[in-house]
Amino acid sequence: MTITYEQAITVHEQADQLITGEQIAAGIDTMARQITDAMAEDMPLVLCVLNGGLIPMAQLLLKLQFPLETDYLHATRYGKKTVGTNLSWLARPSVDFKDRTVLVVDDIFDEGHTLAAICEYLQEAGAKQVYAAALLNKVHDRKVEYRPDFIGLDVEDRFVYGFGMDYHGYFRNVEGIYAVKGM
Ligand code: IMP
Ligand code: MG
Repeated sequence: MTITYEQAITVHEQADQLITGEQIAAGIDTMARQITDAMAEDMPLVLCVLNGGLIPMAQLLLKLQFPLETDYLHATRYGKKTVGTNLSWLARPSVDFKDRTVLVVDDIFDEGHTLAAICEYLQEAGAKQVYAAALLNKVHDRKVEYRPDFIGLDVEDRFVYGFGMDYHGYFRNVEGIYAVKGM
């Protein structure tokens, strides 16, 4: 589904703001300290999960003041739909991560299929140690067994957008986390 300009404006006007930009910044600071404690001397490869991880990763990187390399991967579960279970690989990392510490940065830990599958792949493909960071944890009891190592903030069990996450492809550029009315 594509949305019109008018629909986009209406969705955002009627949405509930769940988390402010200041609260996100505090969550990122906390994660950055924990990540620094865990791997500051390991020269890790930090991998952005596109597209949702783009803004969380950028903000996080500026708080990680130790030697690290960056790259990206693109694996998605939802595509542009708001429901679905398929995980598809659009791009695997191109920097060699064999025998290295790897940190995967994603936007939201929902049920966990996406991050679990990504981390399993990296581990099996030869990473020395795989860590994962998610800006948000969606609170519900439908999780897989896997848990990320670093979480910024909890968010309620609704469809959210902003700070990297989209609604029908839009609103990744919104500062703060919003829930669509009625979703
Ligand atoms: P999971 O496999 O259920 O953990 O889904 C994780 C992925 O689904 C995330 O990386 C997001 O890209 C997407 N996703 C899950 N919940 C939301 C949401 O509320 N808004 C936008 N994207 C979401
Ligand atoms: Mg994602």
